[in-house]
Amino acid sequence: MRAHEAGALHGDLGSRGPAWLRTPEDVNALVPHLWPTGVARAADGAIAVGDLSVRAMAEEFGTPAYVLDESDMRARCRDFLAAFAGCDVYYAGKAFLCRAVVRIIAEEGLHLDVCTGGELATALSAGMPPERIGFHGNNKSVAELTRAVEAGVGRIIVDSYQEIDRLTEIAHALQKRPSVLIRVTVGVEAHTHEFIATAHEDQKFGFSLAGGAAAEAALKIIDEGVLDLRGLHSHIGSQIFDTSGFEVSAKRVLGLQAQIREARGVELPELDLGGGFGIAYTTQDDPSPPADLAKRLTKIVEGECEALQLAMPRLSIEPGRAIVGPAVFTLYEVGTVKDVDGLRTYVSVDGGMSDNIRTALYDASYSATLASRTSDAGPILARVVGKHCESGDVVVKDEFLPADVQPGDLLAVPGTGAYCRSMASNYNHVPRPPVLAVRDGRARVIVRRETEDDLLALDVG
Ligand code: LLP
Repeated sequence: MRAHEAGALHGDLGSRGPAWLRTPEDVNALVPHLWPTGVARAADGAIAVGDLSVRAMAEEFGTPAYVLDESDMRARCRDFLAAFAGCDVYYAGKAFLCRAVVRIIAEEGLHLDVCTGGELATALSAGMPPERIGFHGNNKSVAELTRAVEAGVGRIIVDSYQEIDRLTEIAHALQKRPSVLIRVTVGVEAHTHEFIATAHEDQKFGFSLAGGAAAEAALKIIDEGVLDLRGLHSHIGSQIFDTSGFEVSAKRVLGLQAQIREARGVELPELDLGGGFGIAYTTQDDPSPPADLAKRLTKIVEGECEALQLAMPRLSIEPGRAIVGPAVFTLYEVGTVKDVDGLRTYVSVDGGMSDNIRTALYDASYSATLASRTSDAGPILARVVGKHCESGDVVVKDEFLPADVQPGDLLAVPGTGAYCRSMASNYNHVPRPPVLAVRDGRARVIVRRETEDDLLALDVG
């Protein structure tokens, strides 16, 4: 079967087209834009990050493991900063956060978006300057808000009237004037999976622009004068390739900005356009480089500001996936290979939906590659599945792997830096894998592997 015919048969909804990584003839290829820049095949055929082979990593640290090419992630931070010069780039910590990542973000000069008390605690514990933290969430508790205000986080993105009231009380009690943005629901239908689209009207985030709640919230904050309203915020969704959604959303929030100026004579100095920039999970995905995104977004905002005679606000963006997603691959060991007659070959690895829920949850597409060696065997159409007690436990729906793939082989799945470790679970009491950061040919554990003792530590009955 030819690749495109197979693709048509197994139409893939999680990506923008069929998920074929390679032609069946080339099962050993590493398609460059799917892998961290430091990854290549070493002389023995094994995948390596710089000089460090996955075989050596598997031997020392075991599998499964998330492998972060630290230089690749740092380069992505720098690309965003350079492209969006004069703007603030908030790394969205929900994509993946641990103390080492906080330090990388801080060192590279980015800001950090957190959305829970836990993420805030992680950021603060790793020394992120609080003034460079933005705090999101549609249901922040009084305790979380208090902590954020006490710590002096740079801005809190308010999401409900109750939150405005809570924050106002906290500000009074602590004698502080927190800076806030208003999260605006702009009514844009982003072309992405329903679960990760966030700006259409019927959903839990933000204040509706069309219904007037966003304007009302802004005027309330301005009139009360307790909180310092710095600007508006909109985030239209995730894994978005097309900037037209950002264009509509920027136009709408700037329209609201003009409305606020008319009502109160106040020009808000900041505007946050959120994150959601798509990355390549398969060869079908073709993300724009940050420089192109920056050019298009600033042009949209400049044009609209000119039309409305608004001063250009200070822009910020919040990329998560685009910074950490492509910098990581998951390394698995194959445990069983089962040929289901006439249908497909199931290749079971030693992880699964507990370390990558995205395939099951969003019908997302990934690719997989034999990582411990190359092979001259012909291709087979394989499905990479996990070890969980559930038939939906699929890591990669369809992939060409060499026909001699066998137990003991290492498989690597690229593009797993975002929303894989951060959404990992202990389903079936499977301990979560470690995260290894590789730099200059050396791997260090930045999140250690969970153990069965860890699992039992909470079980106090
Ligand atoms: N800013 C806000 C306000 C957000 O809600 C999000 C993501 C981001 C920024 C970062 O979006 P990114 O650039 O990473 O796409 N679990 C889903 C994604 C949920 C995203 C939630 N918010 C997934 O695995 O695709």
